[in-house]
Amino acid sequence: MRMVLLGAPGSGKGTQAALLKQSLAVPHISTGELLRAAVAAGTPLGLQAKAVMESGALVSDEIVLGMLEERFGRADIGSGFILDGYPRNLAQARALDGLLGRLKLPVEKAVQLDVAEETLLGRLAGRAKAEGRADDNPESVKKRLTVYQEQTAPVIDYYAEHGTLVRVPGEGTVDEILARILAALR
Ligand code: AP5
Repeated sequence: MRMVLLGAPGSGKGTQAALLKQSLAVPHISTGELLRAAVAAGTPLGLQAKAVMESGALVSDEIVLGMLEERFGRADIGSGFILDGYPRNLAQARALDGLLGRLKLPVEKAVQLDVAEETLLGRLAGRAKAEGRADDNPESVKKRLTVYQEQTAPVIDYYAEHGTLVRVPGEGTVDEILARILAALR
């Protein structure tokens, strides 16, 4: 299965991808995780991305695409993949189609996790307390939600137009949501 997971910050993309990875036996590729690893390692890319991520804005399309091209150069994606956090705007959606078209590995399903804003805010506030992620403070969360509405929401229509979109209610227990996603992929 070659799929992208779409949803607002806190919608559960990372949580579900970690489980889907086991169920589907395909790698989980998270652009947020790749960027956080670069920040933690202090690479030139990480140094460039750090302040942008902390503010809640998007890192440049060029940087993220370069990182993704490198990741898609690995042989394990031949079995499929779960892409989490990419694409986040229409330019990224088109760039991804170009990249995957060249690799002859087009996206089969785009799964959108649908979660009410009140729930998103509750989950992110909970994680801020538990883990202290740098962009989970109220100001950055507000910015991330605005960026999602303005730039990422159009990507949902893009996949709907391409006939690959499935919408999944993203509230309930983690296991309930996983079962819904697996049913939607069948
Ligand atoms: P990224 O890491 O992708 O963050 P995000 O989209 O803001 O998503 P989150 O990780 O906050 O949420 P999630 O949907 O994965 O939910 P999770 O499972 O973690 O990106 C971070 C930043 O990197 C961006 O702001 C940007 O700067 C940059 N970036 C990344 N990709 C980029 C790109 N393509 N282009 C440009 N810049 C890019 O769950 C959240 C919390 O809720 C957790 O605590 C979890 O335990 C809890 N939870 C999950 N499911 C449930 C449930 N069912 N019930 C109760 N709690 C739950």
